[in-house]
Amino acid sequence: MTGQASAEGAASGKVILFGEHAVVYGSPAIAAGLDRGARAIVTRLPSGPSTLQLGGGTVVADDSSSNDLGRAFSALLKVAPAIPPVHVEARCELPPGGGLGSSAALAVSIARAAEVLARSGEAGPEEDAAIEARVLSRAAAWERIFHGNPSGIDATAAARGGIFRFTRAEGARPITPRHDLVLCVGSTGHPSSTRTTVELIASQHAKDPVLVKRSIDAITSIVGNAVLAIEAGDMRALGDLMNMNQLVLSGLFVSTSELEELCALARSAGALGAKLTGGGGGGCVIALVPPSFRSDGTRDEAREAESAARILDAWRSAEGHYEGF
Ligand code: MEV
Repeated sequence: MTGQASAEGAASGKVILFGEHAVVYGSPAIAAGLDRGARAIVTRLPSGPSTLQLGGGTVVADDSSSNDLGRAFSALLKVAPAIPPVHVEARCELPPGGGLGSSAALAVSIARAAEVLARSGEAGPEEDAAIEARVLSRAAAWERIFHGNPSGIDATAAARGGIFRFTRAEGARPITPRHDLVLCVGSTGHPSSTRTTVELIASQHAKDPVLVKRSIDAITSIVGNAVLAIEAGDMRALGDLMNMNQLVLSGLFVSTSELEELCALARSAGALGAKLTGGGGGGCVIALVPPSFRSDGTRDEAREAESAARILDAWRSAEGHYEGF
């Protein structure tokens, strides 16, 4: 590495709007970047080992560490061309295990900062594309430690933000919404492991591939219709599709009674639809806030904020005192 001594990288969190789990089997899914995310400062060290400071603790990059974070950090740095010894200070504004892409956002922010540090001088557009591809490879190496068989949608959302359709084969294709989507995110307060729920479905698939394929096919058609509803600005249809996607996910046993309660509370408080987001088994739900328009057709953000506040209140005043934003 040459040039500067330290560099900063940032990445977004995400929500999966539709298609989680099915995307692991090659089906399409829709994700949207969140404003909240992760930041990392990477500083060159004169000699190894590389270290990562996160949330008050520090881990060493080590392939044989018993700590997943130490192994994931090592895997990220080792993707060719390997990053020489660095110290990383990382911060994440997303709850770990919340299904909001905290792990991918951390990986992408660290990989970006490391790539900036490794780069000598200005990069041209072609080099930029190669660097972003490498950032995704580094994030994939990290995610494999935590998730086993990641589809790549979380790292893609962390790197690019916005709303997009994603498949393993084709990557991301941006979607242009006719109207902005306003979502509330509600948390069970219980972290979940994406690896565990992905493995749960893999074991169902091994036992009864036909049954799981039926669910995947149902999700595939929900995703196809959701792309059309987003592009057409048909929020009612979109809400109905969210509810349908949630039903199929429940049938795959990745929902929980708390996730179901959060969805039911949101719907009774006026949400057009609600579903779990990410791996399930805990973590978060998303609820679609009904859009409000003034008589001149412009968006009435104040009324939408009131609608969102009703959903957040319903979550907070429930017996579980769920949090949301
Ligand atoms: C996790 O955010 C989404 C899953 O589909 C896993 C993946 O795609 O890697 C559950």
